[in-house]
Amino acid sequence: MKAWQLKNFGLDNLHLEEVATPTPKANELLVKVSAVSLNFRDKAIVDGIYEPDMIPKPLIPVSDAVGVVVGVGAGVSRFKEGDRVNSHLYSRWIDGAPKPNEPDFCFGAPLPGGLAEYMIIHEDSAVKAPDALSDEEASTLPIAALTAWFSMIEYGNLKSGQTVLVQGTGGVSIFAIQIAAALGAKVIATSSRGENLEKVKALGAWEGINYRTHPAWEQQALKLTDGKGVDQLLDVVGGDGLNQSVAATKVAGHISVIGFLAGQTASLNLMPVIFRQTAIRGIAVGHRMAFERMNQFINEREIKPVIDRVYPFGDAVKAYEHLARGAFGKVVIKVAG
Ligand SMILES: NC(=O)c1ccc[n+]([C@@H]2O[C@H](COP(=O)([O-])OP(=O)(O)OC[C@H]3O[C@@H](n4cnc5c(N)ncnc54)[C@H](OP(=O)(O)O)[C@@H]3O)[C@@H](O)[C@H]2O)c1
Repeated sequence: MKAWQLKNFGLDNLHLEEVATPTPKANELLVKVSAVSLNFRDKAIVDGIYEPDMIPKPLIPVSDAVGVVVGVGAGVSRFKEGDRVNSHLYSRWIDGAPKPNEPDFCFGAPLPGGLAEYMIIHEDSAVKAPDALSDEEASTLPIAALTAWFSMIEYGNLKSGQTVLVQGTGGVSIFAIQIAAALGAKVIATSSRGENLEKVKALGAWEGINYRTHPAWEQQALKLTDGKGVDQLLDVVGGDGLNQSVAATKVAGHISVIGFLAGQTASLNLMPVIFRQTAIRGIAVGHRMAFERMNQFINEREIKPVIDRVYPFGDAVKAYEHLARGAFGKVVIKVAG
């Protein structure tokens, strides 16, 4: 089969090559990949800044995929040939509390990912793709959508009328806007671009804050919430901006620590966290049962993932470059079909 292979860190070291097509072992599915979507994680892995010691080389990258089951190993019972399935990042995390070694079983590193004509997915970690979505749309769900869903719904128990703040207009934040708005929550979105703030309002966001023209964006968030702060905040930026997130969140509110766009370390001022009794929780995408509940919600509420651009399989490098420039929603690579 044809597969993109990362032989060393750096986009220059990502090449399309001919490799052996994998054979499904017991309880595994051979999936003909239709489409994949890129996440910041995929770019960080190529750049060598995402846990570089746990990245095997060569690696078939990209964790989020959708495809059709074309072969099954012995004993497979959850799926059959012809079924359309998604990969699920934390492939062994099915339900309940995560085990300490979940990161050892992630697609797109250390497990081979979906940027290839075929991939292996264990039947327990495969998820039926939502019928209402195209291949390109379904490929966007495994990380970005599930992270937004898990943070706000499974962990945050978001209710209609509550307020949520999301940062930037990337994959996680756009899904968070769509899911929260569908539930009747009021979303404040931040962006560096005025035109993106208009676009997120069309997707259901209640208010927008330009974090370039308002570097003290937390003050704007307080103004919009009568000085109280939001019920929930999804922090995808990380770094010392976490202090601003604490200030923008109401007393006893929830912050999901999701991303590290501005840095993987933070110098956190503890007194506001103590006085405001802020619940700060790290998020690692979510488990398979949550993915299935989310897909039901996406089908029922007719949520359509926002795709910035779809690239052909041969242009994977251009897709990575697009993500690095910044995308409104998701960057997708069409692999087959
Ligand atoms: N923990 C998890 O489970 C998990 C899951 C998914 C993602 N993540 C992490 O979450 C982060 C976002 O992921 P993503 O896939 O949504 O990224 P993405 O699609 O690449 O989106 C990035 C967007 O964030 C905004 N942004 C960039 N730098 C910013 C800054 N300093 N302040 C505010 N906004 C900024 C920009 O939006 P504007 O152009 O509108 O300003 C940019 O387009 C990444 O660090 C990723 O690794 C973690």
